Order: sequence, then C-alpha cells, then structure tokens
Amino acid sequence: MIFDLERESNPILQYAKTRGLRLILIFFIFLLFASCSGKVSHDELNKVLIPWPNEVVWDDDAFYPGEALSIQVTGARLEEIADHFATEVSPYLGITKVSKGVQGDLTLKLDPLTDLPKEGYRLEITADGIHITATGQEGIYYGLNSLKQLIRFNYNKDQAWAIPTGTIRDAPRFSWRGVMLDESRHFFGMEQVKQLLDLMAEHKLNKFHWHLTDEPAWRIEIQAYPRLTEIGSRGDWSNSSQEAKFYTQEQVREIVQYAAQRQIEIIPEIDMPGHASAANRAYPEFSGGGNPEHPGFTFNPGKEGTYAYLTTILEEVAALFPSEYIHLGGDEVHFANQQWLQDPEVRSLMEREGFENLKEVEYYFLQRISDALRAMGKKTAGWDEIASAGLDHHESMIFWWRHDKPGVLHDALDRGYKTVLCPRIPLYFDFIQHPTHQYGRTWKGFGDTLGVYHFPDSAWSGLGGKDLVMGIQSCIWTERIATKERLDFMTWPRLTAMSEAAWTQPEAKSYERFLERLPHFYVFYDKLQIAYFDLFDPESTPEPVWNDGPNWQQNHNTE
Ligand code: ACM
Repeated sequence: MIFDLERESNPILQYAKTRGLRLILIFFIFLLFASCSGKVSHDELNKVLIPWPNEVVWDDDAFYPGEALSIQVTGARLEEIADHFATEVSPYLGITKVSKGVQGDLTLKLDPLTDLPKEGYRLEITADGIHITATGQEGIYYGLNSLKQLIRFNYNKDQAWAIPTGTIRDAPRFSWRGVMLDESRHFFGMEQVKQLLDLMAEHKLNKFHWHLTDEPAWRIEIQAYPRLTEIGSRGDWSNSSQEAKFYTQEQVREIVQYAAQRQIEIIPEIDMPGHASAANRAYPEFSGGGNPEHPGFTFNPGKEGTYAYLTTILEEVAALFPSEYIHLGGDEVHFANQQWLQDPEVRSLMEREGFENLKEVEYYFLQRISDALRAMGKKTAGWDEIASAGLDHHESMIFWWRHDKPGVLHDALDRGYKTVLCPRIPLYFDFIQHPTHQYGRTWKGFGDTLGVYHFPDSAWSGLGGKDLVMGIQSCIWTERIATKERLDFMTWPRLTAMSEAAWTQPEAKSYERFLERLPHFYVFYDKLQIAYFDLFDPESTPEPVWNDGPNWQQNHNTE
C-alpha cells in the first residue's frame, strides 16, 4: 500500500467519535447564543467555510447588510455570476444592481494585475462594504461562494444581523477538483445530477467527469445512431430489463449550462475500446467480441468502419461539451479482447502493421481515436492504461486509478503526461468507508474520511513530476449504488473531506479542525435531505442496503 494512512485506530478519530454528540450540542448552544446577540464568534464563523480558505483574518467590526445588498459589477462577464449569487442568497437578502460609478455595498472587481493566482480571490468585509477581487471570473464566483456561506450562517430573520469584518485571501491547491459519476451501471437522472453539481459548487469543486457508457447501458443520445439509446440504454446493473434511460442532447445542453453557471466543466467519458457492450448490443457490426463473462465487450479495432462510426459519435459528443478534453476510457481492455485474435480484420491489421500482440492493436486503436479527437479540436483523457499507448503528451491526460500500481503513476509523469490522481483507495467512493459496512467494495482496505482528507499528502514528498499533477478526483462507481439514498451515503461526508484536500494547502489543513466543523456540514446536509454517513455515530446512520437485483451474488464480494 503506497499511501500509509492513519486509520480507524487514530486517536483523533476516536476522540472525535466520543465527542461527536458534545460538538453537536455545543453547536446548537452556540446557535442559541448567536440568535440572541446578532453577532458570532470568529471561531464559530470559521466552521462554516467549506473548503477551509488558505488565509482568514477577522477583525472586530461588523457589516450590517440590512434587507438588501446593492452590487456593483465591473465588467459584463460578471453580470451572470452576480445574478446567480442573487438567486442563491434570495432566502436571506435582496440584491439590487447599481450602475457603474455608483458605490454599491458589494463590489466585484476583475483585476488582472493583482498577485492572486488563477481561481484565487480576495474577499474584504469592512464596516462600509464588501469587496471581492480576482484575476478571473472563477475567483469572483468562489469569493461570492464564501460570502454566501457567511451570509447563510449569520442571517437572522428576527433581528438585525451582521457579518464580521475581515479578509479572506484564497486560492486552490489544485486546478482539477473532480468528481466522476457512473450513470451506466445505474441511472440517476437530471434532478440528482443537478443536486450533485450544486453541492460540488458549494465545495468549490470544478470538474464533473460523466461516465456515460459502459457494459450495462449507453446513456447519451447520438442522433446519427439512434439505436444506441433505443437499445443500448435499456437495462442497468441490477436489472437487465430496466426500461430505457438516457439523456437527450437537449438535456445534456441544459446540464452543461447548469454546470457552467457554477464554474464546473463537464468531461464526458465514452469508454472504448473495452466496456463497449451496450453500444455493441445496438450496433453489433462494430463489435470486436468479448467472452462469456463480458459479452460484446470491445469495439472492433480491425474494421475501418469502426473508426468512422466512433468519429461520428465523438463529433456529436464534442459539439455538446465545450470541455478541452474528452475521456476515452481505455481501461481494462484485456478483460475480454481475446476474440480479436480470431477476427480476420484484426489479423490483417496486425499483419499489415507488423503488430505482434494485442497491446499493440489496442494502442493503434487509441492513437487513431485520439487523432480523430485532435481533428475536432479536443484533447484525449483516459484511465492510466493509456499512459503506455504512446499518445502525444501535449494532447493527452491520464487518470491514475490503480492504487496498487504506483509505478504506472510515476511512468505517466516521467512521460510528461498531465495527470489526475484518483486511486481506488481512498478515492473510489463505491468502496466502504467504515469497517462495519458490508455492501461496498474493499480491496485489502477502503477509503474512510480520514484517508480522503489526507490524500495525497502522505505520498506527496516522494513524488517526482508534481507540476504535472493537475489535481484529485473522487470516482463514484455505481455497481453497488442503485438509489439516491445510497449514492448520498457513499458520497458524504467523504466528498466534503475531498474538497478540502483538493482546495486547501497542506499547511492550512487540519483533520482535527475539519472534524470540529463537520457538525455544521451535517446541519447543511440535513437541510438538503442528504442521507450522509455520520462518522461520529455510525449506528445512527446505518448503511443503506444495496438495492439487489439479479447480479447481487456476482457482485456482493469482489476483492
Ligand atoms: C476503472 O476503475 N476501471 C477505471
């Protein structure tokens, strides 16, 4: 195991568990106190900021917002962000816009000359007004996001309330702060995806990797190939006769726009050449076969028509998603590509190109599809298997997932690939998060909140090529997650911990303080009816059973 993390026996966690109830009690006593005084202590105020900002300095004055805040926005690009903020704080405050030259209560300013890093912001709260400065619109959004957390906490509907004065100067540790959701195994739909995007935005997470195709189902409308959804979107992991469920292109556009309003980019994944069974049920003429366990698992790399077919599909996908990268999967092809050796067209490809083994065929396929993406103005992203495919490192990005293969990560970095760290342990959220849990995966370990919080610090000092590490990402695979309740339970509070791991610099991180703040996040989850796991009191939130279907036995216990 390369990440030698402290585990459940950790004294902080034990301590946190026993004092969990006490913390919650203190939190409510504090709320009572705050509601009487109209002003809050700085310690309590610190607890509401998620993820923890890198520099926070409070002073002793206060800003009284009254019933409405006037906003002065400099620059048209910020108008939309200001409108979004107005909607988000509307339960607490009205927002009015003032014209240029008039001093508002809240000033948003893009200043390319400040020394703030990309996505960074400065939020200054003075007795006379609030100023947010950033070099780019993301920074303004994140500054408003922190302000929203302060407003939400300080707001009191019964009396005049105030926001303490001070300055937050903040910027993310990593530029890639991602979440992957697998909607092939189980489909969750628009409302659930929008809630996840809302919560990602709350946590300043900025990349949503959408795993849309795999063995059980194909989930995105492709107009040139309608059977992909007519046939390919039927079924899921629990039930192969589940009715067709997929996103229309109109819905995809809506989700992409919804995410963009929250400064989140969506990276679609169309998995190939393996994990293609659903597509191959719809268009078997492009199948490269599989095996009894994984029927029709691969696309056929020997057929010219396969490349034209996939290029057309990817052109439609590329037109829907403005992201720089499209994720091609590329994982686990060896699971079921042995039929390639019997396929006359693959054999003639091998002869023609002088390939000696199936790895070379796999890399040829990836190279061709990657070239097709480049012609569309897109770069290639893929799981860590593609790091040895010889793709241009300027045009490709690697997602390191095999935690038991650190050499693959080092190799990808040595070859100059930008890389996102998403190792199974601790960042696959289909793994259990507590020793008493039984429905999720384990693999000589699992990913608890502590492990997530400390990632990747324990391995960081020894890692070469850090500049190429774009960031970290949780992956929510859904073989064992069929319901919203279970999705929430497996995600929270681990994703809150990951947001701080992704955003906050190691010097400013503290798991002990994170645990002190956690009861506040629980109140927030409760308001949204999110069925999180309470790590202070596991028995109070029992693990939701997996909604077992015909595949239950097969998947109950995989190491
Ligand atoms: C993966 O978990 N197969 C990327």
